[in-house]
Amino acid sequence: MFDLSSVDLLDAFTRELHLCKVRSGEHVVVLSEPGSRGDYVAAAFGAAKACGAHVIAATVPGGSPAPMPSTHTGAGPGLVSVLNDSTAQDLLKSADLVVDLTREGFIHAPVQQEILRAGTRIIFVCDAPDVLIRNLPKEGDKAEVLEGVDLLKRSSVMRVTSEAGTDLTVQLAGSKPEFQCGFADDPGRWDHWPSTMVMCWPEISDGQIVLAEGDILLPFKEYVRSPVTLQISGGHIEKVSGGAEAELLSTFFEDARDQWARSLSHMGWGLMRTADWFATAMYGKDDLMGMDARAFAGNFLWSTGPHPVLGRESYAHLDIAMRGCTVTVDDVEVVTGGKLTGG
Ligand SMILES: [Fe+2]
Repeated sequence: MFDLSSVDLLDAFTRELHLCKVRSGEHVVVLSEPGSRGDYVAAAFGAAKACGAHVIAATVPGGSPAPMPSTHTGAGPGLVSVLNDSTAQDLLKSADLVVDLTREGFIHAPVQQEILRAGTRIIFVCDAPDVLIRNLPKEGDKAEVLEGVDLLKRSSVMRVTSEAGTDLTVQLAGSKPEFQCGFADDPGRWDHWPSTMVMCWPEISDGQIVLAEGDILLPFKEYVRSPVTLQISGGHIEKVSGGAEAELLSTFFEDARDQWARSLSHMGWGLMRTADWFATAMYGKDDLMGMDARAFAGNFLWSTGPHPVLGRESYAHLDIAMRGCTVTVDDVEVVTGGKLTGG
């Protein structure tokens, strides 16, 4: 049967693969599982052909090693069928570009680092079609996030404050600043379409984070409805207090039975100006991973759990996107009251 929805997506996927610098004669592998969107598989397959690349669509069995539902959480634990199969891994290592259409991706699965070390580029895609199209990256996004990375690299302290009461001091030494720009154009590069963000992996931070109404809790894809205060000491969450969402977070930390559940992980700020804060309210939870929330321009995004720079493996990954923060890196204010200082 002719699949009209994938044809509708073909132009966007082709533009995305051009941004990933797919060239004629390169090898593209479209990786999926039975629960992946078939229209995305077809669109990625057609886009690779349109770029003149060799293409293989590889579907592997579903099933996650993580003790939580595979509901586009962003935890990125990978699929057991790939983690346990060297033939699947060899296929991915031999590709120039992998279009990862699995429901959770592999960002926190150590095998992904092995695949990237082979020079493979990986682009992960799992948000809804109009989210992808609205937030289709621009080539210049990379230069802008790299400016933020350079700033973090030459600085020693990041301070985050908000009218709601957040006051967090973050030590940047050894924090390995990174970025996402929505396309993977360099060998060995992983990226996520859509995304535009600057981030780092600090170990030590101290102070308090106060979540305000309208901040977004991921992977739950829920807005904060009453303020939550988290006391942070040495990069660990010592105390959580507040309303209903405080109870949700406390229960998550408790139930995870994970030594790193209360440890802070990556943090940074979003630069995706096309992102829509309302997306979390407007889509079903299974339609989104939530990159609108994770990357909207001027947010402060922080997380818990897995921390590859410190060798912490964990499935207890929260991403929390805050509005209204002021983020200062040494003496440079990059976000002022939730707005990008550079406009
Ligand atoms: Fe994250």
